Amino acid sequence: MKITPGFGKISGNPEAIGICLFDDEIRSGKFSAISAATKRAMERIIAASKFSGKPTETIAHLSESASAPVLVLQGMGSRKEFNWLRLRLAAGAVARAARDAGAKSLALVSGDKLTEDLSEEMITRALVDGLILGTWTFDHYKAQKDKRLLRETVIYYGSEERKKAASKMIRHARILAEGQCVARDLTTHPTNEVNTDYLVREAKALSKKGIKTTVLEAAQMKKLGMNLILAVGQASAMPPRLIIMDYKPARARKTVALIGKGVVFDSGGLNIKTLMMDEMKSDMGGAAAVMGAMHTIARLKPGIRVIGVIGTVENAIGPNAYRPSDIYTAYNGKTVEVMNTDAEGRLVLADALAYTIDKYQPNAVIDLATLTGAAKVALGKYADAVFSNSDRMKKAVLAAAELAGERMWPMPLFEEYTKEVEGETAQLRNSVGHRWGGACTAAAFLKEFVGNTSWTHIDIAPTAFPGAPSSIQPKMTATGSGVKTIVEWALNF
Ligand code: BES
Ligand code: MN
Ligand code: ZN
Repeated sequence: MKITPGFGKISGNPEAIGICLFDDEIRSGKFSAISAATKRAMERIIAASKFSGKPTETIAHLSESASAPVLVLQGMGSRKEFNWLRLRLAAGAVARAARDAGAKSLALVSGDKLTEDLSEEMITRALVDGLILGTWTFDHYKAQKDKRLLRETVIYYGSEERKKAASKMIRHARILAEGQCVARDLTTHPTNEVNTDYLVREAKALSKKGIKTTVLEAAQMKKLGMNLILAVGQASAMPPRLIIMDYKPARARKTVALIGKGVVFDSGGLNIKTLMMDEMKSDMGGAAAVMGAMHTIARLKPGIRVIGVIGTVENAIGPNAYRPSDIYTAYNGKTVEVMNTDAEGRLVLADALAYTIDKYQPNAVIDLATLTGAAKVALGKYADAVFSNSDRMKKAVLAAAELAGERMWPMPLFEEYTKEVEGETAQLRNSVGHRWGGACTAAAFLKEFVGNTSWTHIDIAPTAFPGAPSSIQPKMTATGSGVKTIVEWALNF
């Protein structure tokens, strides 16, 4: 979608006009962008309906004449309860209603006094994010494809300066949201479509955009000693791979690495899943976030080297499957006893983390993974869990999440968790035999593979799939969470 800033009266005859209003603006709002005729039409619609400006209320009023625009009225509730997330949901609802009414162009307007609590920058981020995510659809497997497309939106600002200042941020926010949509697509497609080969192809396609992709095949991984990834993947008909996407601008002085769990399907292995196995096409949500981030990095071209790494495998079942009690030696030389084949994500990440740190010596590393059901139990569908071995880095990641509008929550890495992942027979064990603090013991396991490098682990199992349905999230689809946070973090590193 093309998104541009506007100022003054709405011009260019958009096919839809979307007006976001607080409940106190129903009678006495000031809307400088709309004409007197539109204002009257709005008042007529409000008078004829029960519209009271609640955040969930959207009215799309088809005009009587073909030449007049569709009017979309969107409630934003009371000013007191207003926040960034509500603004984004409002923008999403307007875009969706305009699109569903068949409009190809939209003018997006709010009252002259939006709020003093949100900065201009955050307002633009919310609107753009809402517009892009709100019109994202996933209908690849439906007989009825949605051909309606909202092609362009003009966001009307209250002053010429505000309009001028918005331009850059609109582009920035649009590219971030489009990166998130890359992750949504990858994660929502089922495994018979998006498998390890598909992720390899997707990564290689980035070479046209200035990113150098290297793929380590199983044989090379064997030579290098990545036995944990190989163990997880050994029952699958599709070979495991380590995908490395290297964005390396000239004169880059710093390097960061983004590492994603790319389990294309998690059956649980011999410890076969009894719950929610059908959701496990999404177990590559971390990899999808890294892929979306690399797409975004390739477009925003920061001056820092960014290495995206994906360990991709299928956790399958069969005569070659790895077993509970097997012991494998990781890339960093530590031995790991497999207590539960369903705790496979930490095994994949362990080798990917140790190898990336050893080979590229990044200044800091973030990994993203749909790692534990326990994180989802702790936080529900509404925030991801953040662990780090550096308080400074944790703060930076949480600040990036705030900018990106992604909910992330700090979690502890007490040394007691580390004690729990010590093995009986081997140095480490991949599962501790009880459920308490499952997200924390998983993070403590990963910590054993990062040495002294600044590292943050984001368990995105809570939010990745399926997203809580809303005006910016269709039912049973992936959220693409994580992309915007890690890109913002890398840009500000
Ligand atoms: N991929 C799952 C975690 C998961 C569960 C993500 C539900 C999203 C929704 C992971 O590989 C897993 O199975 N974790 C186990 C770990 C346990 C065996 C120690 C879990 O969370 O139960
Ligand atoms: Mn598992
Ligand atoms: Zn898993």
